[in-house]
Amino acid sequence: MDAPLIVVNFKTYSSAMAGAADKLGQLMADVETDARMVAVASAFDLSSVSAISGLEVWSQHLDPVGQGSHTGWLEPQTAIERGAVGTIINHAEHKVSLEHVRDLMAMLPEDFPICACAADVDEARALAELGPTFIAVEPPELIGGDVSVTNVDPAIVSGTADAVKSISDVGVLCGAGVKTGRDVIKAIELGASGVLLASGVTKSDDPEAALMDLVSLIH
Ligand code: G3P
Repeated sequence: MDAPLIVVNFKTYSSAMAGAADKLGQLMADVETDARMVAVASAFDLSSVSAISGLEVWSQHLDPVGQGSHTGWLEPQTAIERGAVGTIINHAEHKVSLEHVRDLMAMLPEDFPICACAADVDEARALAELGPTFIAVEPPELIGGDVSVTNVDPAIVSGTADAVKSISDVGVLCGAGVKTGRDVIKAIELGASGVLLASGVTKSDDPEAALMDLVSLIH
């Protein structure tokens, strides 16, 4: 089995932007684990966070535009030059159309992981048809909450894993309320390749301990 993914979305939490993003990225890079740790930094912070040795850094969003007259859009080639080696797309907090996902995928290198987020099994199925690298299923109502999707709605995780795997060889992540190593193991037991989380780390009083807990049951 491939190394489980622990993907930490920095969003725009003050604890994970600018200088704090660099500190959190360093904490992630320092975790000794067999898991694949991914920091999903703000576009503003891609350069500095990707400069941290040994850390995989993704963008939180990209737009299917080229270099030119596209004011305010997140142009992929520059994100790559600034250190992004993957991206999230269609996050619940930044929804886009299927065409946006398809057009973006057509612009990106083959080996550039794209994690398309889905609110439910139907959306996951539609996105899987496009063949991204990962689908992350996250019930919007559980995002930022205290309960993990793996406990409250395990069926959406296993259902997405089954649905997606019947379409193509796309890895499935799950997220929303994920905070602990037990949540990570449960996600894997339900058929996921890993987790996508934010507040469990970014809002923790002790992010280092939170990160250690997340990987503690992975052997
Ligand atoms: O991108 C991760 C996310 O939406 C889940 O957030 O705070 O519930 O871990 P959180």
